[in-house]
Amino acid sequence: QQFLQTENYGRSMRHVETCPSTQILAHEEAQNGAPNGTVIIADEQTAGKGRLSRPWSSAAGKGIWMSVITRPELTPQQAPQMTLVAAVAIVRAIEELTEVTPAIKWPNDILVNGRKLTGILTELQADPDRVKAIILGIGMNVNQQLEDFPEEIRAIATSLCIEEGQPLSRPKLAAKVLDYLELYVALYVKKGFAPIKILWESYADSIGKRVRISTLQDTYEATAKGISEDGRLEVVLDDGSIRGIYSADIHII
Ligand code: BTN
Repeated sequence: QQFLQTENYGRSMRHVETCPSTQILAHEEAQNGAPNGTVIIADEQTAGKGRLSRPWSSAAGKGIWMSVITRPELTPQQAPQMTLVAAVAIVRAIEELTEVTPAIKWPNDILVNGRKLTGILTELQADPDRVKAIILGIGMNVNQQLEDFPEEIRAIATSLCIEEGQPLSRPKLAAKVLDYLELYVALYVKKGFAPIKILWESYADSIGKRVRISTLQDTYEATAKGISEDGRLEVVLDDGSIRGIYSADIHII
């Protein structure tokens, strides 16, 4: 908290040593009226949640495991783009505090040298016409060594310490992420998605590249073009038509 430069984000902060998942605590607090920018941060999660019900490895004291309760003036349709806003904020924070060059993999992974450094899980509490809270779950691998990761993800995961060759201050990094998050959420609410889109595309690893797209229904190849105003990944199919993808796994080929 001492490193924060924000107005709201992180000003109300609950730090726990261990919990199953900060997302669960954040949902409870949001329901109980926690103010905009409330942060729940844990040293360790025993049941960290990833996207698509995947587990998220959250070793004790090694990473930033936090959930940010945001209450932006957005419609439920504008909520999914918050994942992209958060991704841009995290990349900016990493760039400012390290020598590492991160890339964004649509929709929500931050990679370094093709390995996963950070994941974002966006969850919504909303009425049909109004967002009550968007809970941004951010998991950043900071001070792990390779052996701190479960064996099955060692080939695909990395940490800032591994990439940078030295440990980093988790409080400083968390504060910087919150600084940029507050800034870019405000920009999104005020000016719409266009400025975020430009930033996001400048960090994206797949734009202009050939990708394999796997959805629950099928798998096909196309060329990634950019993102649309509503956060879909736009790809050009081989017949020249353009498709906007809402949810899928993307692999550069
Ligand atoms: C993903 O890439 O699948 C998203 C991972 C999100 C992990 C973070 S860690 C803090 C918060 N609490 C959770 O249980 N998950 C998110």
